[in-house]
Amino acid sequence: MPQKYAAGNWKMNGLVSDLTDVLEIDAGVEGLTCKTIICLPATLIYAADGDPRQTVEIGGQYCHPAISGAHTGDVSAEMLAEAGATYVITGHSERRTDHGETDADVRAQTEAAWRAGLTAILCIGETLAQREAGETLAVLTDQLKGSLPEGATPENTIIAYEPVWAIGTGKVATPDQVAEVHDALRAQAGADMSLLYGGSVKAANAAELFALTNVDGALVGGASLKAADFVPIAQALAAS
Ligand code: PGA
Repeated sequence: MPQKYAAGNWKMNGLVSDLTDVLEIDAGVEGLTCKTIICLPATLIYAADGDPRQTVEIGGQYCHPAISGAHTGDVSAEMLAEAGATYVITGHSERRTDHGETDADVRAQTEAAWRAGLTAILCIGETLAQREAGETLAVLTDQLKGSLPEGATPENTIIAYEPVWAIGTGKVATPDQVAEVHDALRAQAGADMSLLYGGSVKAANAAELFALTNVDGALVGGASLKAADFVPIAQALAAS
């Protein structure tokens, strides 16, 4: 059975003073059967590592393929791991768009994550134009082929399906749309790989998404910033 994950992505939000929200989330998810991860801005990981968390694990949001070097402004997987991360997002569509990251880049970042002992949360997703052109499954199959390295296991990789048009827009994909994609991903990625859905997940729509056979959790942006929004999502997952 795939592991269930409630994963939060704080994106470029949060100062050290906001880490109290991670502690509130930690208290709220204690004892739940799913795993809970919060992917923080790199600047907060070390500070979060010093907090007395029991349950929530910490992730980064990006890593450079190299261990170190002349890459101003970048952060390596080893740096994230030393700061206290155990997970890292790779291939988020905002990075693919804002920084021109290709499938080959995402593949190299995912290999770097493994090298540092991190579990990669590898994101794929189609644009609205691709969906409307009927290309969704072909695009996702290609993205996964291009960005998932050889040697992926359920321990070192989690796959997140995040339709670009659903991220931060309030437009969640319908259960039928999610089921079609996740069933195809299950066939491609294997029986035990965790498959998360991401894109405007909230407490109000979480339960119907988690009821789908091949949805093993969620990658949550906006609704992960506050415990009052995020804990009910994790509870819905644990109850599914
Ligand atoms: P959202 O973001 O929940 O704010 O739509 C999801 C994500 O980008 O991971």
